[in-house]
Amino acid sequence: TEALRVGIAGLGTVGASVMRVLSDKAAELQRQCGRPISVTAVSARSKGRDRGVDLSGAQWFDDPVALAKTADIDVFVELMGGDEGPARDAIKAALEAGRHVVTANKALLAKHGVNLAEAAEKKGVLLNYEAAVAGGIPVIKTMREALAGNSVSRVFGIMNGTCNYILTRMEAEGLSFEDCLADAQRLGYAEADPTFDIEGNDTAHKLSILTSLAFGTKIASEDIYLEGISNISQADIRAAASLGYRIKLLGVAVRTDSGIEQRVHPTMVPTQSVIAQVHGVTNAVAIQSDILGDLLLVGPGAGGNATASAVIGDIADIAKSQPGFQHGPVFGRPAKELKPYKKAK
Ligand code: HSE
Repeated sequence: TEALRVGIAGLGTVGASVMRVLSDKAAELQRQCGRPISVTAVSARSKGRDRGVDLSGAQWFDDPVALAKTADIDVFVELMGGDEGPARDAIKAALEAGRHVVTANKALLAKHGVNLAEAAEKKGVLLNYEAAVAGGIPVIKTMREALAGNSVSRVFGIMNGTCNYILTRMEAEGLSFEDCLADAQRLGYAEADPTFDIEGNDTAHKLSILTSLAFGTKIASEDIYLEGISNISQADIRAAASLGYRIKLLGVAVRTDSGIEQRVHPTMVPTQSVIAQVHGVTNAVAIQSDILGDLLLVGPGAGGNATASAVIGDIADIAKSQPGFQHGPVFGRPAKELKPYKKAK
């Protein structure tokens, strides 16, 4: 059987982890997929940088769009980040050239996901994005596959590892916000611009993707009420603790009579609740639906290996799929347009 040929654009924390795991686990992946997976092309900002991964077997491209279009790949893996510019251009080029696409880019999907999904459907290729939401937690597969037939009433959870790591250490060790953020950056959890983490935008991007899947609405991250954790002080955390609560940054989407309410804000959760026991970089996503009832998924939410695990699961799905096979529409198609709930004042 022929190898699945993969092109990777972006070799930061996640890209380097993906390269490393694909190489270390080549035999295991071949057994599971029934064919080898081989990285035939790579692109990144700096060719010379030592990432501790072997790039010698792959063709180097300075331009990610050229990589996306090359006939030498079957799958284009976008790990550059950014909601416009090269990441968007490269994904569009890959889809137009009939390549499958795997991306971890929640900011881009929150803005252009529906258009990209339509482009993928038109070409009969897959657009997989498990790594875009809640790191290694298989929440997209759960929503798209395992919860078929369920009507979702509520989705909520801890979807930013950086914020949960900061809040956990501020509470447990009495450290300052700044010191915890610096550690989260050092550990490769934070976004290139950590403002997106601490001001809640990253959670909003992820929530908007989950909302679209759960309720069949168009992705609308601009309608999300947004408040981050940058104003949370030790005094707030201690006050919450004295009342029997912990502060968590939650993303919440609820079906209401007047539409879908979406919000992101620090929330006091009872110390005894399950969600309060989710510590550090761990994420948790709760889904309430009519057939199944309450489901809670908990797992590693950020960092190289957690994200790489989800990216590789998406690549493996493509390796296993038959030509022309599709899972169905990438984002929900509303039977009737559900209006996004207006921002709370
Ligand atoms: N910066 C993100 C986080 C990475 O901290 O959760 C995973 O999407």
